[in-house]
Amino acid sequence: MKKTLKTVCALSLTGLLLFSLGGCGGDKKENARPATQKLTIYWGALEDFMAADVAAFEKETGIKVTAVRMSSGETLQRLKAEKDAPKASVWFGGPADGQIQAKADGLLEKYVSPNAAKIPDRFRDRDGFWTGVYVGYLGFASNGKLLKEKNLEPPKNWNDLLKPEYKGQIVMPNPKSSGTGYTLLASMFQLRGEEDALEYMTKLDKQMKNYQKSGSAPAKMAGQGECLIGISFLHDAIKFREGGMKDLILTHPSEGTGYEVGAVSLIKGGPDQEAAKRFIDWCLTAKAQEIGQTVGSYQFLTHPDAKPPKQADELKGIKLIKYNFLWAGRHRDEVVNKWEKAIGK
Ligand code: G6P
Repeated sequence: MKKTLKTVCALSLTGLLLFSLGGCGGDKKENARPATQKLTIYWGALEDFMAADVAAFEKETGIKVTAVRMSSGETLQRLKAEKDAPKASVWFGGPADGQIQAKADGLLEKYVSPNAAKIPDRFRDRDGFWTGVYVGYLGFASNGKLLKEKNLEPPKNWNDLLKPEYKGQIVMPNPKSSGTGYTLLASMFQLRGEEDALEYMTKLDKQMKNYQKSGSAPAKMAGQGECLIGISFLHDAIKFREGGMKDLILTHPSEGTGYEVGAVSLIKGGPDQEAAKRFIDWCLTAKAQEIGQTVGSYQFLTHPDAKPPKQADELKGIKLIKYNFLWAGRHRDEVVNKWEKAIGK
């Protein structure tokens, strides 16, 4: 059966990106197998990763997928708003912190995929509400050309970000909307304790050019010369550098950096639960985990047999903090509220 990707619909829906693959006027005659099942996924990783995964899953199963890319905070808001009549059944990607909060808020359904047995315990919820699919490290993406023009070095630790010469030229994701931004904020709380973390974040706020809604935007802005330093996951910066933003320089804080376990989970009460479980089973296989790297998503992978992207080699050995996901997830609202209050938002 020849199943070509006829159309990719990219509709802007209240600021969100909606992709529906094969569901927007594709040639019906080509679909020998009737589309008996469908599935809606809320997607937390990058859009091209979403398109590639959706296409591969549709091809393998015949299940028609609608996927909506949102940052973690947006997905949480959406799930809360839809609690009484959920529209999606799978949450894929974005740091597990968001899904830990969703579990605590009663928005997820327990599902222990038979394929989760292969995933190491440290990447899984012990109660079976979410399972890790990838791992990403936070860091600094600087524009080397701009640094050189100003005779500056890239930041090498968290305190470097407070240097007067960087003032007004740093961009980070907003911890309220972005899982990446929240990973940064929760890392500071864990590294420094609440009081020092809020003091640091208040000083950092004065250094900001602006806050971005999504986690990858700061690295892209640095690559495009729109800011001097972007704080993002470093695998996103590698993607942009490889894609032509050659001025990007990657550094990471010497004290240790925060990291994400990107996770997948089943949304409570969502439609098409069987299709949802099939997707979760599928994305936990080694073969499916290797798809992201074909479109520039260079996270480390959680399946021990999945081949990690060679592009991530340069990130091996980076010092990580002891990031407590449970604490970060359970205190998300509280920590974000404290940060907003501290910086006067
Ligand atoms: C990018 C990264 C993912 C990460 C996600 C978080 O897509 O490649 O590894 O999970 O950002 O998105 P957010 O917008 O919530 O920070």
